[in-house]
Amino acid sequence: MKYFKQYALMAAMVAGVAMSSNAAASNAYEGYQLYNTYCIFCHGADGKGDGPLANKLGKKKPANLTDASRMRKRTDKDLFQIIQGTADHAKINGKMPRWGLAIPGPQINSLVSYVRMLHDSKEDVIGNPEAGRKIYENTCSACHGVNGKGDGIMTNVLPMEPADHTDAAKMAKLSNSKLLNVITNGTRGPKSFMPGYKGSLSRDEINSLVGYIRLLSY
Ligand code: HEC
Ligand code: HEC
Repeated sequence: MKYFKQYALMAAMVAGVAMSSNAAASNAYEGYQLYNTYCIFCHGADGKGDGPLANKLGKKKPANLTDASRMRKRTDKDLFQIIQGTADHAKINGKMPRWGLAIPGPQINSLVSYVRMLHDSKEDVIGNPEAGRKIYENTCSACHGVNGKGDGIMTNVLPMEPADHTDAAKMAKLSNSKLLNVITNGTRGPKSFMPGYKGSLSRDEINSLVGYIRLLSY
């Protein structure tokens, strides 16, 4: 059993090294889903380290992943290895599970993106991004593209430039309330093609869209 676990960890490490050179494969949306499945028990829904298992681990508490001054000292490689369980003991004391035994490298990269978001983003992930994704694919992708890059098929037939929600610098300047406003009311002017969804989507649905879009920029 021990031998098998070591082998699995080695295999995951090889996959991880191959993937970590490809930053574009990171995806905070996937990281968000994995986080809510595996990490939330200890680190808590908002990443502050106060999940339901936090008090069952003895003295060592789960790290507060929203603590920017602490977390920014970690490189992406540090975070990858801490999550994978291959970081040296000076970095971590061993209470954190070794996720390399269960989660392949590409998904660990996605977790790194989401952990970054937890301490870097000024804005929270609001609503239910999973619901938001479905609405997005049905309602928004014709113009914005399935990946939110602003390259949907309607850009071939109409002279418009839908926003690129994966543009991190631009998205960092847009508050959640600004996004809510644009999606609710659309944009105005003869060359504005962004429709308002006040009549057709509920406030909850629009919140979920904002949560989903926010994740696309990490
Ligand atoms: C069983 C509880 C538990 C679970 C589940 C858990 N962690 Fe942890 N985590 C910890 C503890 C405890 C620490 C404190 C580190 C130590 O042992 O020194 C920690 C530390 C960390 C750190 C290091 C922060 C730093 O820089 O100091 C990161 C990053 C992290 N966890 C990410 C994750 C991710 C991502 C997941 C889900 C895949 C996860 N953790 C799941 C308990 C947990
Ligand atoms: C008919 C095409 C079209 C559809 C459908 C559409 N958009 Fe847009 N959207 C645009 C265009 C074009 C812009 C750029 C502003 C403009 O031209 O008015 C834009 C801008 C935006 C912005 C502003 C971002 C910024 O950088 O200021 C957000 C947010 C947005 N859209 C979200 C959505 C969401 C969410 C949906 C689905 C509910 C959606 N859009 C559906 C065309 C569209």
